[in-house]
Amino acid sequence: METPKPVTISELRRLREAGEKIACLTCYDASFALIEDRAGVDLVLVGDSLGMVIHGRSTTTAVTVDDIVYHCRALRPSLKRAFLVADMPFLSFATRDRALDAAQKMMQEGGAAMVKLEGGREQADIVEYLTVRGVPVCAHLGLQPQQIHKMGVFKVQGRETAAAEAMVHDAEALQQAGADLLLLECIPAALGKRIARKSKVPVIGIGAGPDVDGQILVLHDILNISPAFAQGRKPRFVRNFMDGSGDIETAIRNYVRAVKDHSYPAAEHCFA
Ligand code: KIV
Repeated sequence: METPKPVTISELRRLREAGEKIACLTCYDASFALIEDRAGVDLVLVGDSLGMVIHGRSTTTAVTVDDIVYHCRALRPSLKRAFLVADMPFLSFATRDRALDAAQKMMQEGGAAMVKLEGGREQADIVEYLTVRGVPVCAHLGLQPQQIHKMGVFKVQGRETAAAEAMVHDAEALQQAGADLLLLECIPAALGKRIARKSKVPVIGIGAGPDVDGQILVLHDILNISPAFAQGRKPRFVRNFMDGSGDIETAIRNYVRAVKDHSYPAAEHCFA
């Protein structure tokens, strides 16, 4: 069997140019990484969602840089093809030095090829500080779960005109600062489309509608085993890919196929 060519940032850009949707999924361990890689997931994120789906907390606040590095190290050797992104946890990028230290650990010890951080134009300075030093950054806009204690509740972002305009400007500022990828969470589909159209870099959505360059979901959500579901908290954008799949690998293959053939997300997964 041919060894798969590892996905790089250039390949993500090429997929965008070619109009092929980028299939992304969170992952936290070696067993699932093997399956995701085999199933054709293009980009794997060690997300701070691990605080909720692995550690069983109700928010991501307690996740540390060491937690992210630990999980990156666990799964990195299993990835032959997928691009590995590591999430910068709450306050780990509060200063330039902290951000650089965290990114260094994630890339050198964890083997990540990119880091992701939440925030708008207020993070442009940190993004520039990292990117000029060779750290690729994915900027996460829209719903930012690390702000939960400021927001009180998780809700759709960018519905009001002023908030939508601000997000469009944030996306521009972060790209100018050097961000190589944008991630949009929980925003109206029309706003997702507008930001993706204007963007010079690939845009990945989670609850951001179909008109972005790729989709990402939390692994445990597509397998229908997230602890939050037991408490009746299931986001609109989640689809249960175990339904009709029979086994986990088939479910993940079906997710990749649905992203690539544009059948996920459907209207029922999108926000107006
Ligand atoms: O931590 C996470 O899982 C995320 C999601 C947006 C995929 O950031």
